[in-house]
Amino acid sequence: MCAVKQSEIMWTNAGKPFDLSDSGAYESWKQAKLVNYPTDVEQIMVSLVDPHALQASEKTEISQLCAQCNVVIYQIGDISQLDKSLVHDLGQQLGLAHLDDNLRADEDSVTSLQVREQSGNQYIPYTNKPLSWHTDGYYNPLDRQIRGIIMHCVRPAAEGGENSLMDHEILYLRLRDENPAWIKALMHPAAMTIPPNLENGKEIRGAQSGPVFSVDEASGRLHMRYSARKKNIEWRDDRLTLEAAAKITELLDDESIVFHHQLQAGQGVICNNILHNRTAFEDSAEQQRLMYRARYTDRIENTGI
Ligand SMILES: [Fe+2]
Repeated sequence: MCAVKQSEIMWTNAGKPFDLSDSGAYESWKQAKLVNYPTDVEQIMVSLVDPHALQASEKTEISQLCAQCNVVIYQIGDISQLDKSLVHDLGQQLGLAHLDDNLRADEDSVTSLQVREQSGNQYIPYTNKPLSWHTDGYYNPLDRQIRGIIMHCVRPAAEGGENSLMDHEILYLRLRDENPAWIKALMHPAAMTIPPNLENGKEIRGAQSGPVFSVDEASGRLHMRYSARKKNIEWRDDRLTLEAAAKITELLDDESIVFHHQLQAGQGVICNNILHNRTAFEDSAEQQRLMYRARYTDRIENTGI
């Protein structure tokens, strides 16, 4: 069920809410965002009859929820005829058109996430190990950031594999309300650096520095680069940055702002690259977890300010 009506999320007096010098715009944006903000995962669930041809009401429900909290979980009614094309079609109808290639993506740039043998570097998404909090593509170049994600569940694991989801804008407002100087530190262009990715001693991706929080110019909304991994993350050596990073760790434990959900067959997540993690899981001989994941450089349409 949709938590708010479109009229309630028209950002009045929009201004620049993520500009620290515009506290008026920030306060009115925050007020609008928090009206009937979903507190239960049931409130971010939408039913879809046919992912290849969304009904106008389904499309509106997705964009309204994503305008408010940057995420929905969908459930497709009839899952007997589904194949991978549903992800492409769903994305196209929501303004998600530019797919990001990654090292392990399939030929069509949509990744089949499952436990698999990997040669060279071992990437956790393709194992059954837990994945800690992150946004996708935090190591990507700044001109190829991931703004939208669709993850569709073909088969859940026999056991485990639950996702936690947190709207990065809620994290932002918690931080800003406590200490705006943390936001300034996290918006610094060298706030978080990811060291180069090496395979057999050869650099396959250079080091990538960038801000944690930035503003997506096209939509005026907040973008976040983040990984909770202790290894392979270098925080800018500055008191406020380190304090802010510690505060993020603390807030990610705040259950009152987390949605938990274990995707079932025919369900999926559509989001503006919010914070997420995954618990460990176990496959069985009869049932192996399989997700289709598409990452886009676009945000979901009609979710801007
Ligand atoms: Fe992810």
